[in-house]
Amino acid sequence: MTKEKREIARRPDKAPIATAWDYAPAPEARDIVKIQERYGLFIGGKFVEPGSGERYTTIDPAREEPLSEIAQAGKADVDRAVRAARDAFANGWSGLRPSERAKYLFRIARLLQERSREFAVLESLNGGKPIRESRDVDVPLAAAHFFYYAGWADKLEYAFPNRKPRPVGVAGQIIPWNFPLLMLAWKIAPALAAGNTVVLKPAETTPLSALLFCDVLRQAELPPGVVNIITGDGRTGAELVSHPDVDKIAFTGSTEVGKAIQRNLAGTGKRLTLELGGKAANIVFDDAPLDQAVEGIVNGIYFNQGHVCCAGSRLLVQESIYETVVAKLKRRMATLRVGDPLDKNTDVGAINSKQQLEKITALVQSGVDEGAEIYQPPCKLPERGYWFVPTVFTNVAQSYRIAQEEIFGPVLSVLTFRTPDEAIEKANNTPYGLSAGVWTEKGSRILAMAQRLRAGVVWANTYNRFDPASPFGGYKESGFGREGGRHGLEPYVVLDDA
Ligand code: NAI
Ligand code: MG
Repeated sequence: MTKEKREIARRPDKAPIATAWDYAPAPEARDIVKIQERYGLFIGGKFVEPGSGERYTTIDPAREEPLSEIAQAGKADVDRAVRAARDAFANGWSGLRPSERAKYLFRIARLLQERSREFAVLESLNGGKPIRESRDVDVPLAAAHFFYYAGWADKLEYAFPNRKPRPVGVAGQIIPWNFPLLMLAWKIAPALAAGNTVVLKPAETTPLSALLFCDVLRQAELPPGVVNIITGDGRTGAELVSHPDVDKIAFTGSTEVGKAIQRNLAGTGKRLTLELGGKAANIVFDDAPLDQAVEGIVNGIYFNQGHVCCAGSRLLVQESIYETVVAKLKRRMATLRVGDPLDKNTDVGAINSKQQLEKITALVQSGVDEGAEIYQPPCKLPERGYWFVPTVFTNVAQSYRIAQEEIFGPVLSVLTFRTPDEAIEKANNTPYGLSAGVWTEKGSRILAMAQRLRAGVVWANTYNRFDPASPFGGYKESGFGREGGRHGLEPYVVLDDA
């Protein structure tokens, strides 16, 4: 044998030729997070035992393992929290020099940045979202919101010139489980900047980042009672809504509960903002850069497992490019990695709760039953935990439930259109109106579409982009009121006409 031949013969066992290029596991260490066995309610600047005596277990949805025992606040606990907030409002906070208020908000923002890794790991553990998202989106944006509103605290007369802005009073804030820390920031930052005090209730499945946030408040030396965090399910939320000494309710969650709150508050004089569901159209024209559009479609619906109120859950594709877009989309979907939220390579994490998984499963079944064509890429799911494979439906009629109802999961429905008019008509054909996406090379078309789409946010050649300076909120059954930007201050100020 020649030297070369010997060399070749030896090669296979020396250096095996790679046949598969898999990602090695890249788990983020979780020991940075110290979770207590049980938590009380954060009222008047300290943790107190719930008077109700009731508790429930919060879990890690990716492993179905218990994480901690959480207090279920009852009527008397809600009352105690509201009294603490009223006290803090009347005896200091509302009269504090605005530049002093700003300092606390800046401190909170800095502390969130300093402890960002801890918050990211905890958020992924308790909620199931990929660490990449909590690390790169949720936590930095939460800090950015505090920075942004810290800047407004001593400039309110410039935000509302000649209107003498005053704080409203005690704000009751109820938030959902899809962006627990970020929704907390959206609610608390503008309220405090304008001089209000707060009682906030996180969602029952994801209380842990809000409870860790109490430690940030302690570090920031925020005066006791300015922010109170009470845990519990919908019953606690309902008690907070009906408490007579709450001046304003801010709610993010289901349309069903939003409507119930609105009925409950009618005639009470309490202020209300609602940020509810959505069924957004993501519209792709035939002149769009298709590979970018496919990335935007994927980000629009599979980001955060589709637990996103502004998710691009209805894809409207111009007929002439339909086949190409669907083929590219399916190819891209096959590369999505579904699994451990704490793995830095994970694209799609765990479904937040068993209840939500059941809802998604039922709606997907309805799509199959009504005659849509389902595609799910081959995908190996972990044995324990709540999971759903990224799904796309083609052959969807506008009347199908999957085209009408908010699924709040990684499920996309594809529809087609021929003309811009038809795209508008189909996009607006929903009781919701939170967001929309437009993909086209033509600037004039972007502007024309944005003007006619009945949606609070319209993204052009991008999707799911957020910035604290830009207002967010809905039309129709997606709710009313805006969060973010100067608009986000409005619900928290009383304006006198000069
Ligand atoms: P939900 O509206 O019941 O829960 C959201 C928050 O409201 C939680 O903190 C909950 O404890 C509280 N709540 C529940 N009932 C209440 C009541 N009667 N009074 C006051 N507060 C109450 O939403 P759920 O059941 O978790 O999810 C159901 C569907 O709602 C989802 O599948 C999704 O379609 C939609 N949703 C939309 C969200 C959004 O960001 N717009 C967020 C969460 C859910
Ligand atoms: Mg509910």
